[in-house]
Amino acid sequence: MAIRLFEESVHASAYAQFRPHYSTRIRDIIKSFMEKHGCGFECMVDVATGSGQALAYWTNVFRKCIGMDISCEQIKNARKTFQEKGVKNVEFHVCPVEDLPTGPSSCDLVTCAQAWHWVDAEKLYKEATRVLRKPGVVAVYGYGIPYFPSNRKATDVTLKFHNVTLAKHWHANRGHIINHYKEVQLPYSVTDRYDITQEWPIPLSHYMGYLGTWSGYCKYKEENPGDDPLVRVHQDLKEAFTVADTDPIVDCTFPIFVILGANLPK
Ligand SMILES: C[S@@+](CC[C@H](N)C(=O)[O-])C[C@H]1O[C@@H](n2cnc3c(N)ncnc32)[C@H](O)[C@@H]1O
Repeated sequence: MAIRLFEESVHASAYAQFRPHYSTRIRDIIKSFMEKHGCGFECMVDVATGSGQALAYWTNVFRKCIGMDISCEQIKNARKTFQEKGVKNVEFHVCPVEDLPTGPSSCDLVTCAQAWHWVDAEKLYKEATRVLRKPGVVAVYGYGIPYFPSNRKATDVTLKFHNVTLAKHWHANRGHIINHYKEVQLPYSVTDRYDITQEWPIPLSHYMGYLGTWSGYCKYKEENPGDDPLVRVHQDLKEAFTVADTDPIVDCTFPIFVILGANLPK
């Protein structure tokens, strides 16, 4: 059964505004793997695209890009963002992962970013294999809990918020993110895995906005109306970054994990 999160209008807008976009290093890793296996760059589909964070850097690479998501609100935000940027070669669909909006053998790449743990993996693999050409590639990737390389105290504030304050409010599937998707086994004979980091220097206020998109935080607020633990977290982070600036740029860094599989001709 689909796990329905991130769908309400207010959550989808915050998601579009505050979630990280992905570094081009991830794109380059996927592109090299595709080139190594002789794939084309005609069409790609980004499964569970949310507001299209993982699509932005493909529109210059593929002739056609497709973003799909089960949430109308997420897709509404994605359409708006890409229209505002004047991107013409992308189309968006509201649909579930088990019904990808493209025909058999029509795509060279299927990506699934920060969503593998929310979808039915077997259904995703079945649909990906149906829509992929041979050769074609599936790329599943995500990011773990952020940290601050130069500030242990700020990292501990984030860890305490994640592991203690929100402990009872995370869905069990969040465990796959904590485990950096070590469980992902793509059903292809040729696979690869990369563990990298992505720096994301942002104002502290933006980092607070990002923490506000965590599904565990949204559940906490539902179950404890009137109590906002982010007020305490913000105070603790301001103390950890002891600088005069009230909204300093912080050196937020994410662990990134990329799992690749090649659907090859026999
Ligand atoms: C954590 S967000 C990831 C969004 C985006 N890919 C990113 O990298 O930020 C997970 C997304 O999966 C979508 N989703 C969950 N279950 C789905 C399903 N069965 N089919 C399609 N989309 C689904 C949600 O609506 C949400 O937009």
